Amino acid sequence: MGMEARNNRDGFGSKLGVIAAAAGSAIGLGNIYRFPCELGENGGAAFLLVYLAVVVLLGIPVMLSELVIGRHSQLNAVGAFRKLAPKSAWPVVGYMGVLCGFLIFSFYSTVAGWTLEYIVKAVDNSFSGKDLAAIEKDFEDFHNQGWRNVMWQAAFIFLTGFVVFRGVKNGIEKFTKILMPLLLVILVVLGIRSVTLPDAGKGLAFLFSPDFSKITGKVLISALGQGFFSLSMGMGVLITYGSYIKKTDNLATTALSVTLSDTLVALLAGIVIFPAAFSFGVNPKAGMGLVFNTIPMIFNQMAGGYFFCIVFFVLLAIAALTSTISLLEVVVAYLSEELHIKRQWATVLACLGTMLIGVFASLSLKAGSPFRMGGTSFFDLLDFVSSNILLPLGGMLIIVFVGWRMGKPKFFEEVTNEGRLKMPLKKAIFFVVKYLAPLAIAVIFITGLIR
Ligand code: PHE
Repeated sequence: MGMEARNNRDGFGSKLGVIAAAAGSAIGLGNIYRFPCELGENGGAAFLLVYLAVVVLLGIPVMLSELVIGRHSQLNAVGAFRKLAPKSAWPVVGYMGVLCGFLIFSFYSTVAGWTLEYIVKAVDNSFSGKDLAAIEKDFEDFHNQGWRNVMWQAAFIFLTGFVVFRGVKNGIEKFTKILMPLLLVILVVLGIRSVTLPDAGKGLAFLFSPDFSKITGKVLISALGQGFFSLSMGMGVLITYGSYIKKTDNLATTALSVTLSDTLVALLAGIVIFPAAFSFGVNPKAGMGLVFNTIPMIFNQMAGGYFFCIVFFVLLAIAALTSTISLLEVVVAYLSEELHIKRQWATVLACLGTMLIGVFASLSLKAGSPFRMGGTSFFDLLDFVSSNILLPLGGMLIIVFVGWRMGKPKFFEEVTNEGRLKMPLKKAIFFVVKYLAPLAIAVIFITGLIR
């Protein structure tokens, strides 16, 4: 990979474009679907507290480290390590990331497909006048039509492939800049409706008053995994995107804006879901149905609900799309830069591979599916292994790499744009990267294992 390839690389056009694309990757089903599910299953406020601690302590240092590796090397997740640590085992971290991108895309696209089904349901006005039992039954019926899930999943993978096919600049930026703020607005509107429903207080208490005895090893690991998942950290998305960022952009403020906006959206999602769930009698441990059943119920109680419901699911699909784009981009950047497969073919290949694994993720959710072991579906297995194990492990290796192998001078050079930017906290952040953050991840892992 010489200068030539470097000069031909696609990049982000503007400062806002970078933040929009990285925030687009971070904000997605992880915030609006996965976060409430995890929170509901892991004791509510206690989980939220650990989650916030993970974001504050690890968010900026890990995200910044990834961006530093990407922009410094100007390469994909594997190539970056190969260039910065030649003849070492470090590229394995990049391969892990590519694998993880693949695995996450395979199950993420299942849920992303549901958003398309729900757009159609919303347009059909199929929620109106229904009570919770009927809405829950519709959700269950949909799952039991395994191939219908697969069809939507395939459509979503195709959509993602289409955008990535067209390249970084004109593909990713355009979508995110306008539509993410709109998503925020609709979440605020939903939040206001939710907290003014009868008995909303119970949901708010579940969300905000912690019972510390509920903090177990499982809660710690789940919150760690959710933090990495939601911020798109630990698998090379931010290395890949970092490599497209201009040398004059400020990496630290990018990391800060992405972390803040992602956390804001997750909190808003919590404020939308739980008061309403408690008000309607949806079990907070409902898992998959929690979000997909609660949201239509809220719209049923709202003036203009029909219209807003369509807009919401369209925006949710787009939020998911900007995340799947980043997952696919990691794989495509690797295939095209390292294996020299033409970008277009790399996209087709990666999408077909994802579909091949993804089919089983979708079909495993059907009642009585053969792709289930005990209570655990293939979908859950993919999610657990990639989110709770591979991402934190990848993140730990990434910060160890920056802290111990790249070292302080290169880190400072990159975060200050070779001395042109002031960055008052750089020493403290580097200390966290080198010592505190790896230790924190290790401790959570070990506590989780011996729970
Ligand atoms: N952060 C995305 C979300 O919350 C999911 C994702 C994870 C994207 C890992 C890229 C990498 O929806």
